[in-house]
Amino acid sequence: MGDGASVRVEDVRKSFGTGDGLIAAVDGISLDVPAGRSVALVGASGSGKSTLLHLIGAIERPDAGRVVVDGQDVTGLGRRAAAHYRRTVGFVFQRFHLLPGLSALDNVLAPVLPRKAGFDRDTRARELLAAVGLAGRETALPSQLSGGQQQRVAVARALIGRPRLLLADEPTGSLDSATGEQLMDLVSALAAEHGCTLMVATHDMGVAERCADVVRLRDGKLTGTAIRGRGWAGPARGGLTGPA
Ligand SMILES: Nc1ncnc2c1ncn2[C@@H]1O[C@H](COP(=O)(O)OP(=O)(O)OP(=O)(O)O)[C@@H](O)[C@H]1O
Ligand SMILES: [Mg+2]
Repeated sequence: MGDGASVRVEDVRKSFGTGDGLIAAVDGISLDVPAGRSVALVGASGSGKSTLLHLIGAIERPDAGRVVVDGQDVTGLGRRAAAHYRRTVGFVFQRFHLLPGLSALDNVLAPVLPRKAGFDRDTRARELLAAVGLAGRETALPSQLSGGQQQRVAVARALIGRPRLLLADEPTGSLDSATGEQLMDLVSALAAEHGCTLMVATHDMGVAERCADVVRLRDGKLTGTAIRGRGWAGPARGGLTGPA
């Protein structure tokens, strides 16, 4: 098992066209995340957290700047290479995106299909469901699970491909804070156990505190960085290069 991917974000920009013109969702962010580190992205609604995670996961392409993961520029990849890169990343989406017609188990297996699920994968999917507290619910449909249980399925699904980088967008968004913090403890423990670098967008400071570093965004810009045990360094340049 690896020890996570390093992530280097270099002056990345992304704007979206709206009726009133362009909105700079991510407006020149640079950030250096060492392999294996856990980083929380915090900031008000609309500050660019999801967009930044989408750029790092190559779900969106930046207008300018680069994202370099383990030394590879992932921003200019062709379709096939981008698809290959995305398979090395675990993504928990803000609105979990479970497939409504599939059981919990098949949702966990979905990223590693259409290749036929071998015994090994099936076992791993069951182990992951057990790790997120859903043993016995393998055949449940998303509609038969609570919001928190659906989020747990989404976490298990994100880990099925043994990612070196786990990107989680508000993984606790629809949970009360106690349940959310419990799920976040689980996500951090699983990331550590699976050797993933972890980046989590969250509104919840209780969730953010479970990460080694906290990066604050405002209007698409980075406005501060806290490294555990060292307090805030801001306005920050985003180099998280201290000891983990
Ligand atoms: N596909 C899109 N089309 C147009 N505007 C977009 C799109 N995606 C994001 N934006 C805009 O970019 C800005 C940043 O959005 P983003 O979703 O990254 O924020 P966020 O920090 O994740 O917010 P939240 O906490 O509400 O999830 C917002 O102004 C948003 O309206
Ligand atoms: Mg968001």
